[in-house]
Amino acid sequence: MSRVAYVNGRYVRHAEAAVHIEDRGYQFSDGIYEVTAIWKGRPVDLEGHWIRLERSLSELEIPMPMSAKALTVVARETVRRNLVRNGILYTQITRGVAPRNHLFPANTPPALVMTARSGLGPSAAVIEKGVKVIGLPDIRWGRRDIKTVSLLPNAIAKQRAHEQGAAETFLYTPDGVVTECSSSNAWMVTKEGVLVTRPLGHDILGGITRQRLILIAKEAGVPVEERPFTLEEAKAARELFLTSTTNFCLSVVQIDETVIGNGHPGGLTRELRAQYMEFLDKLEGPVWYDH
Ligand code: PDD
Repeated sequence: MSRVAYVNGRYVRHAEAAVHIEDRGYQFSDGIYEVTAIWKGRPVDLEGHWIRLERSLSELEIPMPMSAKALTVVARETVRRNLVRNGILYTQITRGVAPRNHLFPANTPPALVMTARSGLGPSAAVIEKGVKVIGLPDIRWGRRDIKTVSLLPNAIAKQRAHEQGAAETFLYTPDGVVTECSSSNAWMVTKEGVLVTRPLGHDILGGITRQRLILIAKEAGVPVEERPFTLEEAKAARELFLTSTTNFCLSVVQIDETVIGNGHPGGLTRELRAQYMEFLDKLEGPVWYDH
């Protein structure tokens, strides 16, 4: 099976899919993206992803290339053509192609690309063991709530983590307060059993998984506090975990040299992960691809 990509109105062979060298995404990282999970052929929290996509575009004054309804039609077709049952859908929109000039070009249509591929989530062994993270200064810009393709600091952070045998980073501001991870949101469980994650604002991406997990936790009667916490607090926490579209809810068992709890995934984290999996299994709506 050869993969297929949607590029500006056409479905093309993935291997040959290309955008122009003067696409502003390429030259200025002037664009935004979404990563949506596909679980058993259904999109996960698609509406939330489209709402965030529309917000990111509007913050950057890039027009929607088509309605959310039309995006869904393209998304479904991309997933179907790539035979994705469990995997991810990637959507990217840039300000389009124009002669290089910092100023926003007039009358330039935004460029839309969608791809989909099979494979989702960490291995069962990683889920069982949990992961190590490292603490790193957060050197990103001041509008991390916009899901821009400008991911260089995130990529560098992830690379540094990898070099130290870690899976992720807990990024922190100069005062030692954790923002989030390089591609996920950060959480802790206090000694008192309170679930804590940083409130929404310009400092973090408003994760769709984060939003879903808050709902799940509240429904389960788990106390949730949206407040900032420091790296030191995190190191002393009972449990730590991270959330993202691709990792769902993943236990963190070590920060730098500090082992969290007994070094194994914590009970509440496991419970929340189980409930998230249950939420996935109960998704409703049309199945896009069912092999
Ligand atoms: N990353 N924070 C950052 C910086 C992210 O890049 C992501 C997602 C998240 C979690 O958001 P969500 O729950 O909506 O996936 C938080 C995606 C998966 C990525 O870049 O691959």
